[in-house]
Amino acid sequence: MLDYEKLITEALCAREKAYVPYSKFSVGSALLCDSGEIIRGCNIENAAYSPTNCAERTAVFKAVSEGKKEFKAIAVVGGPKDAPPAEIISPCGVCRQVLMEFCDPYVFEVIMAKNTREYKVYKLDELLPEGFSPKNLLKNK
Ligand code: THU
Repeated sequence: MLDYEKLITEALCAREKAYVPYSKFSVGSALLCDSGEIIRGCNIENAAYSPTNCAERTAVFKAVSEGKKEFKAIAVVGGPKDAPPAEIISPCGVCRQVLMEFCDPYVFEVIMAKNTREYKVYKLDELLPEGFSPKNLLKNK
């Protein structure tokens, strides 16, 4: 059983670093590696808007850039900045696809939290059913 509370706490800490001058909606994530290490991520916006990076992808890209590619779970928290999350938010479609690249969707867990007591847990497969994955490209190699 994963320590959901710990992962949510890490995501809440990560959220404090969000750079959100445009949406003023800050998101934090905490990605649990198979090794037990936790990598934090926050959303990072951009004046040109489309280069904005979501909190989930920030965590994945940080991890992969440091050679970590095996993950168990990710916790996500978000809401208008300068206030605690008032509701549960769920990862956008692009982030679901990025997670798909590095995990087994039937095992990997996505924890969407409001706080350490109120959260929902899904398998990635439930959020991205029939998702396109590296298996589709690599199976004949
Ligand atoms: N955002 C995330 O960081 N993660 C999500 O799963 C949903 C949206 C960010 C992107 C943007 O900076 C802000 O939230 C508003 O869309």
